[in-house]
Amino acid sequence: MLKVPQYVDDISPYVPGKPIEELERELGISNSVKLASNENPLGPSPLALDEIAKHTGTLNRYPDGGAYALRSLLAQAHGVDIEEVIVGAGTNELIDIAIRAFQQPGDETIMGSPSFIVYYISSAKADGTPVKVPLTQDYCLDLIAMCDKITGKTKIICIANPNNPTGTIVTKDDLREFYKRLPDNILVIMDEAYYEYAVSNSSYPDSMVNFREGKNILILRTFSKAYGLAGLRIGYGIAKSQITGAMNKIREPFNTSTLAQHAAIAALKDTEHVRRAVEVNAEGKAYLYKELAALGIDFVRSETNFIYMDLKKNAVEIYNKLLKMGMIIRPMGAADTTTIRVTIGLPAENEAFIRTLKEAL
Ligand SMILES: Cc1ncc(COP(=O)(O)O)c(C=O)c1O
Repeated sequence: MLKVPQYVDDISPYVPGKPIEELERELGISNSVKLASNENPLGPSPLALDEIAKHTGTLNRYPDGGAYALRSLLAQAHGVDIEEVIVGAGTNELIDIAIRAFQQPGDETIMGSPSFIVYYISSAKADGTPVKVPLTQDYCLDLIAMCDKITGKTKIICIANPNNPTGTIVTKDDLREFYKRLPDNILVIMDEAYYEYAVSNSSYPDSMVNFREGKNILILRTFSKAYGLAGLRIGYGIAKSQITGAMNKIREPFNTSTLAQHAAIAALKDTEHVRRAVEVNAEGKAYLYKELAALGIDFVRSETNFIYMDLKKNAVEIYNKLLKMGMIIRPMGAADTTTIRVTIGLPAENEAFIRTLKEAL
């Protein structure tokens, strides 16, 4: 009889934010708002869209498996060698490849809790042991506690900076202390998916410094958030060639599409789109902070394009009420928890969230 291996059977699959089309089909409504997946509410970079239109005629051909043009541009932008750049179908894929490359069955991968769930799933599905470490009381990753969990089996530590779902950062000082304690046989996955939103904070560490020091670090950035290309699935990693080399051995040969590669090149040059995304986000954040405070809701100050809040009521029930009003947000954690995560949208979307939340509460 065919048997699913135990470690596969034990996995709870990733649950994505509910797609708008699905909700509207189910409820027979229109004009619903999705603030569930930390996407860019301004839409894709217009330069990227032009570039996509130019390259549809070559879709009969396989993509450049080495993504040479995109990797060259990224290497130049970051002052690194092209061999030190790897691209993937979103950073999600790069997390998965890195864990498969460096964690063997029975090895441990350390991560925050709550943090980005893909670290857990990727570690578990490679038959490793994910080790979850609670956040500090301020909802930040506890790097010292994470170091305390290191054993002879630890191969990887995943740091989401900023962290999803809490939106907090680890600071330059936190990271300095962390590196003092870190053995040199452990890979640090420094996941900077929300880099563009956080980088203006003077406490936010420049992880490229650690890369240049020769640390075992894989820095991940994505085109899914501030660049507005989540649907194309493209992100990149920077690491020394020993790390990218191992990852390249196990990645799919054509893991990023032709259109994604060209769009990413154009999006990288569209600094105005990113600037506007960050600006609209800052304005939306200020509005939501004010309204949430007025409603007496506890929230965590965010360095990202989403806000984590505690409704002190069953989050799944509120989520379902909001869904019926065409508002999609994200309840966090187990069915009995009271926290939700809401993406910062356009002004009208943020207003709709506050209006529907008031009604649901
Ligand atoms: C912390 C973090 N890392 C990585 C990702 C994955 O992004 P992508 O695969 O679209 O690059 C996300 C997506 O929400 C995230 O929140």
